[in-house]
Amino acid sequence: MLWLGLLSLPAAVQAQGFSTTMLRFGCSQITIDRIDPLVEPGSIPSAHVHQIVGGNAFNASMAVTDVSKLASCTSCTFDQDLSNYWTANVYFRARNGTFKRVPQMVNDAIGAANAGITVYYTAPGPNSVTAFKPGFRMFSGDVARRAPTNLGKKIQSCFRCYTGPNFGGNTYSPCFDPQRDTESFPKTPCPGGIRSSVIFPICWDGKNLDSPNHMDHVAHPVDGPASFAVVDAKCPSTHPVKIPQVHYEIVWDTTKFNNKAEWPADGSQPFVLSTGDPTGYGQHGDYVFGWRDDSLQHAMDNRCFGPTCKGLTTQGFDKANKCTVKSVVKEDNEGWLTELPGGHHVM
Ligand SMILES: *[C@@H]1O[C@H](CO)[C@@H](O)[C@H](O)[C@H]1NC(C)=O
Ligand SMILES: *[C@@H]1O[C@H](CO)[C@@H](O)[C@H](O)[C@H]1NC(C)=O
Repeated sequence: MLWLGLLSLPAAVQAQGFSTTMLRFGCSQITIDRIDPLVEPGSIPSAHVHQIVGGNAFNASMAVTDVSKLASCTSCTFDQDLSNYWTANVYFRARNGTFKRVPQMVNDAIGAANAGITVYYTAPGPNSVTAFKPGFRMFSGDVARRAPTNLGKKIQSCFRCYTGPNFGGNTYSPCFDPQRDTESFPKTPCPGGIRSSVIFPICWDGKNLDSPNHMDHVAHPVDGPASFAVVDAKCPSTHPVKIPQVHYEIVWDTTKFNNKAEWPADGSQPFVLSTGDPTGYGQHGDYVFGWRDDSLQHAMDNRCFGPTCKGLTTQGFDKANKCTVKSVVKEDNEGWLTELPGGHHVM
């Protein structure tokens, strides 16, 4: 349980004596591809490149149905979780104008995941949230955003500059540490890499599995986005049902791109999202629920904490890493590229 030692939970959670439910587990990469069954179903290719984890039912389109019945394996450690989770990729833009995809770090606080995402599901306490229904999906973020949201500490997408190896003394509390979390890419080289956090809303309309913009069926609490530790966060009357807080953590291995001689001549930071966003404000996440039966509800109701949960089963990364999906769009995701896949201009 190495990772517990690395965690320093927000004071509010500690005060609750860990009554909080928090699944935290690794999911290896199943593929890197330019498809997007949530925002651009059926488009081959979709607009920008993604890195995807979870069940092997991931495809250019995915029917609004019980995804856990379509997938036959998962790259996540909970056997019951056949969901899909994905985000844009990060690219390094060298001074000479070429692009190189930034790999992800193995999150060794969790185990030997192959790149991928560390996934969290949190709830303020037992029997306090309603788990998602089969077919549920949602989106968090705004691809077009290039400026802050003025949410202060309550930002729901952020970056943390790791000051050294082993996360530079990582603590939990994503996006709530004004000293270290920024809504835009860090401006100076990060000796330990850069962590992305994407946090989804915690209120649901109780009816719709999806909505045209994949966001309107969910909402933030009335006082704005909240940490899972906020036990009494109040949902708006339009979205009265509290759902688990889904949260992604990705650590980009920017360490081999820290030579400032290769950074843009004007001194600006060199990282861009696969959407062409050089600010990071447009960071976003996509989610397609796919837990088997009531396994997620069970975990949320039984104070499960960390990478295991009584009543659920787990697989090792040796097995999880074997669950992969062939990429559909054949293009170079590894070399030095003269333009971002999809031809996005950096802007
Ligand atoms: C993806 O969809 C295509 C076309 O519908 C289908 O032929 C293929 O088997 C699907 N792949 C997976 C992994 O489900
Ligand atoms: C561009 O710069 C990168 C980083 O310095 C280098 O690896 C690459 O070979 C260069 N490409 C060209 C076409 O000069």
